[in-house]
Amino acid sequence: MNHSVDIAHFDRLLQGAADPGTVLLDARNAEDSQQWRPEGPGIPAFANVSYTEFVEDEDGALSRLPQADSVYVICARGRSSQYVAGVLRQRGINAINVDGGMLAWAAHHRIVRLNGDADAFAIYQVVRPAKGCLSYIVASGGEALIVDATRYGDVYLEFAARNGLRIGATADTHLHADHLSGSSGLSHDSGSGYHLADEDAQGSALTRDAMPKQFDIGGAKIRVLTLPVPGHTLGSTALLVDDRYLVSGDTLLPEGVGRPDLGNKAREWTRFLYESLSGVLGKLDPQTVVLPAHAASAAQFDVRGACERRLGPLLAAAAIADRDAFLESVEERVSHSSQPAAYAEIRKINLGAPVTAARAEELEVGMNKCALSSAPA
Ligand SMILES: [Fe+2]
Repeated sequence: MNHSVDIAHFDRLLQGAADPGTVLLDARNAEDSQQWRPEGPGIPAFANVSYTEFVEDEDGALSRLPQADSVYVICARGRSSQYVAGVLRQRGINAINVDGGMLAWAAHHRIVRLNGDADAFAIYQVVRPAKGCLSYIVASGGEALIVDATRYGDVYLEFAARNGLRIGATADTHLHADHLSGSSGLSHDSGSGYHLADEDAQGSALTRDAMPKQFDIGGAKIRVLTLPVPGHTLGSTALLVDDRYLVSGDTLLPEGVGRPDLGNKAREWTRFLYESLSGVLGKLDPQTVVLPAHAASAAQFDVRGACERRLGPLLAAAAIADRDAFLESVEERVSHSSQPAAYAEIRKINLGAPVTAARAEELEVGMNKCALSSAPA
């Protein structure tokens, strides 16, 4: 039996079928653990017993661990957890260290192809499970468009190199407030253009191109239309790929609509959001596959490890049939939500303000909060 797993293997275990014989043991302190931890249906049981507790009172720490066939141990960087896993093995428990810990988890991405081989293009969802960030690669004729790249640009550069793709352009569906965008940096590194709608680029220090009406990838073998959908932000743009896939940014999310209050003009932007949903997206085929920019939990992914929805049911759930009811419901929920303090700083960085690697890591701790929650926050 292996004494450690790498982070990609750990992700597959988390995302796989539930194994009731396993426990995930978090060896960080309670505060860090409560703020942010890996979750997934594959390892349903969880315990938080810190490294310090194991050092100070081994028997006491062990007594707090639930019975299990296998214990996966994680910590911040994979070192304290290695010690704890060693202690457990000495006590006859099958303990496996998660290599690299939360640092590796934060950087981990999995790439899932969404369409079949018969198409003239390929569309991939790039999942960063630690943050619930979803980005996209649309490839055709040896060229790729990358949408909403995370700050881990190497993930996309390596994928492109492995698959013989040239990165032709990058785009952000909107100015992200919850995580650091890698799109501009990726454009710089790959020599391609970076696209963000003018409305979201006010005060930008970045080299940027406006959002075109359409992206032609690989000699126009595949048509990607850009649809302005203001509401979550003024410049929010959805990308319609081959009339079948809607890269929706945060306008439509697996659990509902994106919050329209981030610009502190909730009343006005809620009305824009309504027009975008009913007037723009409501005219598309209800069977269109919606590919959001975020997932809120591991439960929102399918067996492939991807997160997609159909447009019709999402719009029906958003209750856009009745304008007044929609406005009232969104305004009611907005009145209960607050904006994390880090969002203002993240926006500035996404417009080109410098940031250190350490600060970037701190700013990205925790899941995103771009969805309009149905419960008061
Ligand atoms: Fe967002």
